[in-house]
Amino acid sequence: MTTPPVCNYEGSDYQKSFWDEGGRAYEDYTEAIALKRLLPTSGKLMLELGAGAGRNTPRYAGFERIVVLDYSRTQLEQAQQRLGSSDKYIYVAADIYRLPFVNRLFDGATMIRVLHHMADAPKTLQQIKNVLQPNAVFILEFANKLNLKAILRYWLGKQKWNPFTLDPVEFVELNFDFHPQAVKTWLKSLGFTVERTLTLSHFRVGLLKRIIPTAVLVFLDSLLQWTGAFLQLTPSVFMKASLISQDVEVNTPTDSINFFKCPECSSSPLTPKENHLFCTTCSSKWAHKDGIYDFRTAME
Ligand SMILES: C[S@@+](CC[C@H](N)C(=O)[O-])C[C@H]1O[C@@H](n2cnc3c(N)ncnc32)[C@H](O)[C@@H]1O
Repeated sequence: MTTPPVCNYEGSDYQKSFWDEGGRAYEDYTEAIALKRLLPTSGKLMLELGAGAGRNTPRYAGFERIVVLDYSRTQLEQAQQRLGSSDKYIYVAADIYRLPFVNRLFDGATMIRVLHHMADAPKTLQQIKNVLQPNAVFILEFANKLNLKAILRYWLGKQKWNPFTLDPVEFVELNFDFHPQAVKTWLKSLGFTVERTLTLSHFRVGLLKRIIPTAVLVFLDSLLQWTGAFLQLTPSVFMKASLISQDVEVNTPTDSINFFKCPECSSSPLTPKENHLFCTTCSSKWAHKDGIYDFRTAME
């Protein structure tokens, strides 16, 4: 099966350079507020897609267990260092386009700052929908092409691409901004109801961030996030989507081994062996090493 290319973060110091030392406390706090507003207070099994170094993972503490998924093994190793290796966290290296989970498994999912890297957004959302239970909640963050700065630059002739058209814009290789209406349409066509939309980072301007205390900007942003219900002109948008209940069975295995299916042939269950999970249908072996399940490429 061919899948779109992956933006590879293997070996990246993203967490340190972008967040810890990148002057983005304002963006981080505003995300924490949005997540608190959108997340249910409790849940069973959460799927965090493109978790990176686990910056947001502690914010999902209301869920009993959390699958921390990323394509990059080194990002997951950083997440392990941050979160530890309790039963609450299951670390999975996998491509979102080839999710290694049985259908209708999760009652919650988040994908923050990741759609940004997906060349085929509708396919991405379809994969996520497949593994969600009916009535599951899905929180999606995306980079908004219809942001005020892009509009002004376009009107002043400093930017060629049109922020008003529905197509995604790839401004750097494998970095995409999306139109809010397009994202909403994709979600709806998959059976999601968009329950709430919040706009974030109203004040993502270097000068403002330098001269106004972060706490003040965060407070003002938190007041303005609600305006996302009718107008989305900020660089970052959060949507809370739920699946419309269909009377289909949910999958609720108690043993986490039974969460998985073979990403090669879709068979389940997989058989646990000493250092891998074995697919009895296609004979693929998926490594399990140092607490990380690896479903990217089968073992030799
Ligand atoms: C910008 S980082 C965001 C990390 C984290 N969500 C955060 O907000 O701190 C994007 C993450 O998405 C992951 N990613 C990109 N494409 C992916 C794919 N196809 N499958 C799984 N993870 C992917 C990258 O490895 C990276 O860790």
